[in-house]
Amino acid sequence: MRVLVIHGPNLNLLGEREPDVYGTETLDEIDTRLRALARELNVELQCVQHNAEGAIIDELHSARDSYDAIVINPGAYTHYSYAIADAIAALRIPVVEAHLSNIAARETFRRTSVLAPVCRGTIAGFGAQSYALALRGAAALVKR
Ligand code: DQA
Repeated sequence: MRVLVIHGPNLNLLGEREPDVYGTETLDEIDTRLRALARELNVELQCVQHNAEGAIIDELHSARDSYDAIVINPGAYTHYSYAIADAIAALRIPVVEAHLSNIAARETFRRTSVLAPVCRGTIAGFGAQSYALALRGAAALVKR
């Protein structure tokens, strides 16, 4: 089983970016722990990070034939990118939305996800553990 993790904009700055909201772990540290979990789950894992909306869309397009599931933290695109929503809707493989923070409990503009309706599920509010929970969820959705 192959799973792709897509980290969206500004997540490359994890560790130094608003640590009170997003924690002190870096993206590399998060990916290292995710890779260990993937080995446990017998999942082949690839992790990528893109700041640009178009690069995320290209990544989603090319994943459609090479992965069984996707975990995506779309960053602020979550709240307004109909283009990413359309790209996810075009896929047949399951996509799980993940957020470090509990977006439902933050500023009003963060309480809406235009991606949630086209994803199979959403995990939010567990810090870096959100990714681990999302990976477990994605793996459970894929029939072996
Ligand atoms: C985020 C929440 C978004 O609102 C924000 O723009 C991010 C990170 C999260 O993981 O909590 O960049 O997706």
